[in-house]
Amino acid sequence: MSRYESMLQELPKAPKTWLITGAAGFIGSNLLETLLKFDQRVVGLDNFATGHQRNLDEVKAVVTAEQWKRFHFIEGDIRNLQDCKKATEGVDYVLHQAALGSVPRSIADPVTTNETNISGFLNMLVAARDAEVKSFTYAASSSTYGDHPGLPKVEDIIGKPLSPYAVTKYVNELYAEVFAKTYGFNTIGLRYFNVFGRRQDPDGAYAAVIPKWTAAMIKREDVFINGDGETSRDFCFIANVVQANLLAATSNDTAARNQVYNVAVNARTSLNELFSALKFSLSKNGVLYDKEPVYRDFRAGDVRHSQADIGKAQRILGYDPKFDINTGIEQAMPWYIGLFK
Ligand SMILES: NC(=O)c1ccc[n+]([C@@H]2O[C@H](COP(=O)([O-])OP(=O)(O)OC[C@H]3O[C@@H](n4cnc5c(N)ncnc54)[C@H](O)[C@@H]3O)[C@@H](O)[C@H]2O)c1
Repeated sequence: MSRYESMLQELPKAPKTWLITGAAGFIGSNLLETLLKFDQRVVGLDNFATGHQRNLDEVKAVVTAEQWKRFHFIEGDIRNLQDCKKATEGVDYVLHQAALGSVPRSIADPVTTNETNISGFLNMLVAARDAEVKSFTYAASSSTYGDHPGLPKVEDIIGKPLSPYAVTKYVNELYAEVFAKTYGFNTIGLRYFNVFGRRQDPDGAYAAVIPKWTAAMIKREDVFINGDGETSRDFCFIANVVQANLLAATSNDTAARNQVYNVAVNARTSLNELFSALKFSLSKNGVLYDKEPVYRDFRAGDVRHSQADIGKAQRILGYDPKFDINTGIEQAMPWYIGLFK
């Protein structure tokens, strides 16, 4: 049995209290669903900046009434220290996901991104430290690799940030390290690489590529590729990310703390390949898309290629991603089709 399977088996025997910040968002609501299904008590903190009540409603619909009763939602803002203090009270494990994602959003509005992702992060660190939580796991980002061309990306070798968003995520790591040094408060940062799956928002100017293209294809609209389509990413299905969070939060290995880990699958898919994969998956689900992609300029702040070395997470956390891009797309597609029916 894998470390993850045995951990999941143990969870319901001794339920703990988890705080998920950003619980109404894509990753947060998937964490919530898994934790409630394993009979945990969960506090959610979100201000609905980019998250949605419908994500919480969806989770409610797939757990039992008894499990849903173990969820306590606080509508609040991580930029407000009091909200963070209220949310961390009596909590065992913190999964800090709340932030403003998207490179283009941060270029359009660096101030709000900074306030949320840096001041909000600092508030959460202070609140969690003072509440003496057992562990603090946070969403870091592959954007921290910046302009370093090396592939696959190894945790210790980073370049210079290419966007305000990347600066904020790197500053999170710096603060986390300083909290370990100055207060002995140890955290785990998970550098996510292009996560996708159910409940990832397809709407708005800052939607991620998979939901944006899938929605366009279902609606028979144009799909725009920024650049020549050979830009590549290590797309990571949400179930892998949930696994990494739960393993990190519950790890008893003290050497695992005060570290950052890549969370991806160690594969690389170009945008052209992604276009074909989404089209193929939709056709298997009875949705035919017969348009060619529309190529336009490269986008500012984007890195050209991204692929993770996941050896560190495998060795230290026991991370064992079960989904590759194709099996992930297969899982996610019916949800997207349902959304636009
Ligand atoms: N999705 C990815 O590919 C990816 C990649 C790297 C890192 N990340 C990080 O993972 C985390 C979750 O991302 P996601 O994809 O689920 O995005 P999301 O936008 O769906 O979720 C973020 C959630 O945080 C909430 N939030 C934002 N500002 C807040 C504030 N001030 N107070 C309280 N809540 C606030 C939003 O309302 C939303 O529900 C973020 O930290 C993001 O930077 C995501």
